[in-house]
Amino acid sequence: MDARQLKIQAASVALERVRPGMRLGIGTGSTADEFVRLLAEKVGAGFEVQGVPTSERTAGLCVELGVPLFPIEEVPELDLTVDGTDEVDRDLRLIKGGGGALLREKIVAGASEKMIVIADESKIVDMLGQFPLPIEVNPFGLAATRIAIDKAASVLGLSGSIDLRMNGTMPFETDGGHFILDASFGRIPNAEALSNALNAIPGVVEHGLFLGYASEAIIAGSSGVKTMKNRGNQEI
Ligand code: 5RP
Repeated sequence: MDARQLKIQAASVALERVRPGMRLGIGTGSTADEFVRLLAEKVGAGFEVQGVPTSERTAGLCVELGVPLFPIEEVPELDLTVDGTDEVDRDLRLIKGGGGALLREKIVAGASEKMIVIADESKIVDMLGQFPLPIEVNPFGLAATRIAIDKAASVLGLSGSIDLRMNGTMPFETDGGHFILDASFGRIPNAEALSNALNAIPGVVEHGLFLGYASEAIIAGSSGVKTMKNRGNQEI
């Protein structure tokens, strides 16, 4: 089965968790796109939902496919968010932001009672950090912020390149007008300490460590779809 089919499988199981009338955060990325496509089919058949998108990209797809959307200012408390991830460990800690939407994704997930992560099995890791950690920063003071991140990481025994994400010859700009630094730390043994250290740096707007956000991960793989809720507690 190819990667797209796995994403569709995970998305379709997540769709079963969506109840009529739910206030629903809608994630960003290729897996979230599959969820939007399936959701749109259901909406087309009369299913009602209040969607809150996590990016302009997702908003565009929802509008194109007819999924009703509301700004988070109008729907500030959500029942559920369904989103993809770049990495997920067995404690459901995540690295997100590969698509550059991490700030809005975290705001929407944080406003939701529950967050379900959908992914194919390649996203499961024993320890976070193989995927470069996206850190959203204010363009003002970029060099100073990069140095501060490097110092904070080194206090925690972490090192690696911290690269400004580019879009062609220009820095990649998020929906909020910020830049992204991708930090290749390799393995992050103490994600909580790194999260706290990054949050203390003034130029850091948000980072891609989602700790304590996901309540369930729906993972599609060659042997079927698994639901991860706790370490070592996997149900088919
Ligand atoms: C966007 C994200 C995405 O959820 C993450 O990059 C996964 O994307 P995909 O489903 O395309 O692998 O965090 O900011």
